[in-house]
Amino acid sequence: MQQVRAVIARSKGAPVEIATINVPDPGPGEAVVKVLTCGVCHTDLHYREGGINDDFPFLLGHEASGIVESVGPDVTDVAPGDFVILNWRAVCGECRACKRGDLHYCFATHNAKQRMTLADGPDAGTELSPALGIGAFAEKTLVAAGQCTKVDPAARPAAVGLLGCGVMAGIGAAINTGQVTRGRSIAVIGCGGVGVAAIAGAALAGASPIIAVDIDAKKLEKARAMGATHTVDSSAVDPVEEIKRICAGTYAGAEGADVVVEAVGRPETWKQAFYARDLAGTVVLVGVPTPDMVVPDIPLIDVFGRGGALKSSWYGDCLPSRDFPMLVDLYQQGRLDLDAFVTEEIGIGDIEAAFERMHHGDVLRSVVVL
Ligand SMILES: NC(=O)c1ccc[n+]([C@@H]2O[C@H](COP(=O)([O-])OP(=O)(O)OC[C@H]3O[C@@H](n4cnc5c(N)ncnc54)[C@H](O)[C@@H]3O)[C@@H](O)[C@H]2O)c1
Ligand SMILES: [Zn+2]
Ligand SMILES: [Zn+2]
Repeated sequence: MQQVRAVIARSKGAPVEIATINVPDPGPGEAVVKVLTCGVCHTDLHYREGGINDDFPFLLGHEASGIVESVGPDVTDVAPGDFVILNWRAVCGECRACKRGDLHYCFATHNAKQRMTLADGPDAGTELSPALGIGAFAEKTLVAAGQCTKVDPAARPAAVGLLGCGVMAGIGAAINTGQVTRGRSIAVIGCGGVGVAAIAGAALAGASPIIAVDIDAKKLEKARAMGATHTVDSSAVDPVEEIKRICAGTYAGAEGADVVVEAVGRPETWKQAFYARDLAGTVVLVGVPTPDMVVPDIPLIDVFGRGGALKSSWYGDCLPSRDFPMLVDLYQQGRLDLDAFVTEEIGIGDIEAAFERMHHGDVLRSVVVL
């Protein structure tokens, strides 16, 4: 066991704080990772606001790169010294999804079995709940070995670590769930880190046109820089009509986009996505709704009559062992600009300020460098 500094959320709504934690030596199937970088994701804020569950205290951070420090006795896939991106989809190989070959849907993903604990103070020994089973706003963290995905060690950690959550969720929503390919049209509603990543994924796949929709002009600028061919300010114009108009101009009679990605997580934007599709088009919901949200009235005949597919996308339907090394290679070749997602590099004490900046819409990602 060793002691390191980490960022915890002690109770609902309280500001995060730096604490000393105990990190156990890795047991069977586990690894201790020296964290290099960890992006600040919206989900960390959800945890600290009690929006995910009440298992406080949380060890926050889950979008990370690092170096494997030590592994448990039976671990063969990774070894000390490996440069890895941490993932929250360590597949089991045993569940019904894995058995039928759909590993990216694994219904029984796993995390470390041992728990990290608080080291100091009156509640020393209290078990921590790591965010998404990772907990990487920490100098070192204990994870399942399957959560470590080896990638090219020459890549910039702050950039490729973002594939660990939001950027993968966006790219995968476009290319894995939406299956956009060369010449297919796509619209992305909501151009935060996730939506802009969906645009980057669509550009990588050769989609055209790529229509970015947001209510914030700054976000539309970023979307254009990442490959959007058209932008729509939905605070000023009806985005459904505008998407249809743009698509009608590119394909004979197209009645909307082949794929519409919803990256906000709200009923009204999902409804826009539903109606902005071409016949037989696909809606991909990647934004996360709250439990009280319901889909507004949509005549069932519209669901039937338009055909196509209404999908949701968790973690971009990614398989980390397949997708992370491939995307890192594309980054290294200069074909996927992951650097553009790193708005700022910050310290472990700056996370509350980063949450604040997230609300102002100035950042795609703040990345903690440890
Ligand atoms: N499915 C997954 O696996 C997964 C993974 C990570 C994040 N997410 C979710 O994806 C969503 C987006 O995350 P993010 O980090 O990009 O958040 P973000 O806050 O950075 O971006 C949201 C964007 O939506 C825009 N927006 C807000 N209301 C809008 C409206 N009515 N019309 C158009 N645009 C609107 C905002 O201006 C902003 O640019 C969140 O719900 C997040 O929880 C999902
Ligand atoms: Zn499984
Ligand atoms: Zn995340």
